[in-house]
Amino acid sequence: MGDFSGPTWTIVIIIATLGGIAGLWLLIVWQSRIGESDQKETTGHVWDEDLTELNNPLPLWWRNLFYITLVFGVIYLILYPGLGSFGMLLKWTQVKQYEQQIAEAKARYGPIFEKYLNQPIEQVVQDPEALKIGERLYASYCTVCHGSDAGGVIGFPNLRDDRWLYGGTPDAIETSILKGRNGVMPGLKAVLGGDQGVEELTAYVLSISGRNVDAAKATAGKTKYGVFCIGCHGPEATGNQQLGAPNLTDDTWLYGGSPEAVAATIANGRNGVMPAHEEFLGKAKVHLLAAYIYSLSKQ
Ligand code: HEC
Ligand code: HEC
Repeated sequence: MGDFSGPTWTIVIIIATLGGIAGLWLLIVWQSRIGESDQKETTGHVWDEDLTELNNPLPLWWRNLFYITLVFGVIYLILYPGLGSFGMLLKWTQVKQYEQQIAEAKARYGPIFEKYLNQPIEQVVQDPEALKIGERLYASYCTVCHGSDAGGVIGFPNLRDDRWLYGGTPDAIETSILKGRNGVMPGLKAVLGGDQGVEELTAYVLSISGRNVDAAKATAGKTKYGVFCIGCHGPEATGNQQLGAPNLTDDTWLYGGSPEAVAATIANGRNGVMPAHEEFLGKAKVHLLAAYIYSLSKQ
């Protein structure tokens, strides 16, 4: 709105605002005169030969209501800035109000947050009040990605279960939220020798999570797994929480467990990003969030 500030606009706004109020006042005075004589006036509109529209005076209560709103408008303009920078008897500004509300909130909630921050998460989860605050924080800051029930969606992990990319200890969860995470799964189609290599590894990955696949392909895939995948997903394919490499032997899938989804992951790679929240939310809120998430996985 920078285009509408400056002295010229202030004058235009003042004229329009005061002119509007004055104009409405005149309109209502003029309308009140109508029908003061005993003779019934009509608007001149006639329907169905004899149905005429009378021009009766406005009801008194309605007229008075109108005057009250106009008086309210004038008082408002004296107290609050509605005429450029004039008429600010209360010296109210948006910025001041915002700062005041923040200060009030800090004074009120600061000590509560501080108290919980000094407790280990195992203790915070025992406190229903703390979990309630954590739940509200979750609803404000996390649902867009992890879902309103923390059940996750494709690409955004479930936070209710006991399967963790980066670990489910209180510390690991808190670190995930504070510092963020970035899972890097490289696209491996080229090094695997194209579609055939991808198919073999897809078969192998599905076989170790208990699915029926082409046995010959899975065997070929197993050999390649030992070369290209073992470094990140581990010798047993149970994953690596240092890297966020998922366990491939369970039936939990971050990116979907259909053959197509698994093949797409292997061929093109994935790059899941959990944003860091330390600066944005501060340590105290993150602590409560970590407690809330930890409590979900323990239910
Ligand atoms: C912009 C989307 C986004 C937002 C917002 C977001 N997350 Fe995440 N989060 C992710 C993604 C994506 C991952 C998985 C990262 C990966 O694939 O390596 C993740 C991972 C996590 C993990 C690690 C899970 C595991 O299995 O180890 C935790 C814990 C977590 N998020 C909690 C939260 C909390 C609490 C909030 C709210 C403060 C939040 N996230 C907000 C996208 C998001
Ligand atoms: C550099 C380490 C690295 C290598 C090498 C690697 N991966 Fe991954 N992989 C990851 C990470 C990290 C993720 C999680 C990506 C994310 O969070 O966005 C992942 C995700 C996956 C997934 C998705 C799992 C799910 O739950 O949806 C599959 C499948 C997979 N990898 C298979 C393989 C196979 C097969 C190979 C070998 C051909 C391989 N990966 C090689 C690190 C690696």
